[in-house]
Amino acid sequence: MRPIGVFDSGYGGLTVLSDLLKKFPDNDFIYLGDNARTPYGNRSFEVVYNYTLEAVKALFNMGSPLVILACNTASAKALRTIQQNNLPLIDPERRVLGVIRPSVEILGEYTKTRVVGIVGTVGTVASESYPLEIEKLFPDIRTVQEACSMWVPLVENNEYFSEGSHYFVKKNIEHLFTKAPDIDTLILGCTHYPLLLPIIKKYLPSHVQTLEQGPIVAESLADYLKRHPEMNKKCSRNGICHFYTTENPQKFNQTASLFLNSEVEARQLRVYD
Ligand code: DGL
Repeated sequence: MRPIGVFDSGYGGLTVLSDLLKKFPDNDFIYLGDNARTPYGNRSFEVVYNYTLEAVKALFNMGSPLVILACNTASAKALRTIQQNNLPLIDPERRVLGVIRPSVEILGEYTKTRVVGIVGTVGTVASESYPLEIEKLFPDIRTVQEACSMWVPLVENNEYFSEGSHYFVKKNIEHLFTKAPDIDTLILGCTHYPLLLPIIKKYLPSHVQTLEQGPIVAESLADYLKRHPEMNKKCSRNGICHFYTTENPQKFNQTASLFLNSEVEARQLRVYD
């Protein structure tokens, strides 16, 4: 088995995995959620980098030639360092990809007002990864960010349809639009957020489009594998997906089954000593 590895701090990456499974039904995948240490959003650069590196190494040890960080916080804080400093030493033939660049690349087609809102974790927003990437590709687009520190904990705790979710989503969306009322495109810059989408839409002005990362990342991976046939050949194809969590698998199974709308049987994995 040489499955494509998909990593997130918890359940959020399942929103990306779900689109990957649809787009690549023949490929093998391993999903790893670091549920024991989630959320990453408020953690320091150093901690997110160390946790992410441990997860990437664990996925490599299970045979993945390619790992997708299906987590914006990990992509923002750890991806570049892993690509530049760790991969050449671990195995220069393997690859780690993130979710920020693909989400930015397609932005030009969406916004008419050239004002784009980004909602993300405190870590993703503080890293300035989105504004910096957008500035590189589309210097005419203005970006306005909002850190939504409570959204991931709400999702991780199955509270996504509760009154609490309404309260925090409304508060952050209103605050974002106070800063820039002419936003016409909103990037959901956290893979947990599609679960809150019905509530987000309730508080968004109706003309604002939302960009979800699952389909974007699946398209971008298809393009990557086309441009890198040597990597495409390395990825095994038995249509199998295995799930691992650093926490108790029972809770993971219940929640992940809700996320994916199908039964999940995860195994527990220790990624650190
Ligand atoms: N899904 C992660 C992201 O996309 C959540 C981060 C967290 O654990 O706080 O940023």
